[in-house]
Amino acid sequence: MATPVLIDQLEEYLNGLVPARPAEMQAMERYARETNFPIVGPASGAFCYLIARMVGARRVFELGSGYGYSTAWFARAVVENGGGTVHHVVWNEELSQRARQHLAKLGYNGTVQYRVSEAVQALKETEGPFDLIFNDIDKHAYPSSLPVIYEKLRPGGVLIVDNLLWHGQVMDPDDHQRDTEAIREFTRLITTSPEWVTSLVPIRDGLMVGYKK
Ligand SMILES: C[S@@+](CC[C@H](N)C(=O)[O-])C[C@H]1O[C@@H](n2cnc3c(N)ncnc32)[C@H](O)[C@@H]1O
Repeated sequence: MATPVLIDQLEEYLNGLVPARPAEMQAMERYARETNFPIVGPASGAFCYLIARMVGARRVFELGSGYGYSTAWFARAVVENGGGTVHHVVWNEELSQRARQHLAKLGYNGTVQYRVSEAVQALKETEGPFDLIFNDIDKHAYPSSLPVIYEKLRPGGVLIVDNLLWHGQVMDPDDHQRDTEAIREFTRLITTSPEWVTSLVPIRDGLMVGYKK
């Protein structure tokens, strides 16, 4: 297995390849570093942006949006795709308010819709279909979120799910913690389903990309 030093170097190298972000996004990245808040980071964010541009996404739903860093990448793609909506959903009012401030400063006021709620419930209650759904909620809830996501994604739509390598813990046969097992179960469900075409991309903590047939 790769050593932690190599993984850190790889992440630093990949982040270094991402073109400079606006000052507000850099401030969001700095805050995450200083407080250990788990944002997707530049390399994964840029990858999400790339996928969203490639599928021409204009209707995006995010589950587990934090203070809006990943949202900023999707909002940029949606604006450049001709305009649309990114749903920002987090269950914490304070994070939602902070996201509103950051994303307003980035010029995404008209693009992002905010909801303070449990995210899978919010997705159930929001009219689809969506071109792209991004899942970054608490990991134990990944398996039960999959049928809801499938239902709300258009055929040909894309699902992106973060943390499927779970700091390498998914590869440790002695790790049976709830989140690790849930990520394994989610991975098994989506990779063996005839309804999805998938690839697990090992950027940072592992992004699963799923194409709904
Ligand atoms: C890992 S952070 C990621 C933030 C964001 N995706 C980013 O990369 O900038 C996930 C956030 O979603 C929240 N969250 C986790 N599970 C959730 C759920 N089931 N419903 C709503 N929010 C949730 C967490 O409290 C946290 O703020």
